[in-house]
Amino acid sequence: MSGIGHMQVGGLRLRANPARDHCFRLVLNDTEMHEYEAGHPLARREMVHRHMSNEITSLDIAAQCLADFPDAPWELRLELARQCWDEARHVAALARRLAEMGGTKGEFPISAFEWNVTCALDDLPGRLATQNRTFEAGAMDVVGGLASGLRAAGDADTAEVIEAILADEIQHVRFANRWIKKMVADDRRILLKVVAAIRFLAQANAALQSKEGEVNAVGVARIDPAERVPAVNIEDRRLAEFTDEEIQEVLRQAGFRSLSSEATLP
Ligand SMILES: [Fe+2]
Ligand SMILES: [Fe+2]
Repeated sequence: MSGIGHMQVGGLRLRANPARDHCFRLVLNDTEMHEYEAGHPLARREMVHRHMSNEITSLDIAAQCLADFPDAPWELRLELARQCWDEARHVAALARRLAEMGGTKGEFPISAFEWNVTCALDDLPGRLATQNRTFEAGAMDVVGGLASGLRAAGDADTAEVIEAILADEIQHVRFANRWIKKMVADDRRILLKVVAAIRFLAQANAALQSKEGEVNAVGVARIDPAERVPAVNIEDRRLAEFTDEEIQEVLRQAGFRSLSSEATLP
C-alpha cells in the first residue's frame, strides 16, 4: 500500500485511491454517488452499501498508519491493530446485511474520500485528528439517529447491525482523543499538526462536497452542506472522551441539534 501515490484536485494534493475489487466503481465527488431520497426502494440498501464501503476505508486507513509509523508507541499501535480487527468485522456484518436485503457489492458507486484526505497527511496526530476524531466521531452522530430511524421504519435487523458497530466506534474515537491529548501534552508543536490537518480537511470538503442545489447521479437535489450536519450524539461523544467544551463547540457548529433532549450542556 505504501506504493499508492497522490493526485492533484484543484490546489489540493490528495492521496490516490486505494485498490478495490473490480466490481466497485470509485468516484470522487459526492454528487456522483447514488444517495436516494428517504423512502426510495433502494435508499436503505444503498446506505448499507455506502457504510460497508466506509468500513473498508477505515480498515485501510488504520492499517496504513501501522505500516507508515512503525516507531509509534506500542500501546497506540495495538489500538490501531485492534481497530483493524473491528473494522474487518464491521465490513463482514454489513456485507451480510446487504446480501439479506438482496443487494450485491459493487451495485452502487463508492467513494474513498476519507482515505484520500487522511492518508495525504504524513504525520500520525494529523491522521488521528482527521479519521478518528472527525470522520468517525461524525459517523457516531449519523449512526445515533440512523438506528432509531431504521427501527421506526420497521427495519430492526439493520438497526441492530448499526448499533453493534457504534459500540466499537466509540473506542476508535476515544483512543484517538486520548493519544492526541497525550502527544500534545508531551510536545505543544503537535497542536500545529492537528490544526493543519483539520484545515486541510475543510479545504477538501469545500472542493469535493456538493453545494446546495446541485443534483446527484440519481436526480436528488443536494441541500446546503451545513443543513446535512447530523444531530450531535452527546452521550457517545462523552463516552469517547470529548470534553464538555469540545462538545459545546461541535453543538455550536451543528446549530445546537443534539440527539439527547438537552440543547446545551449543564
Ligand atoms: Fe467501523
Ligand atoms: Fe471505526
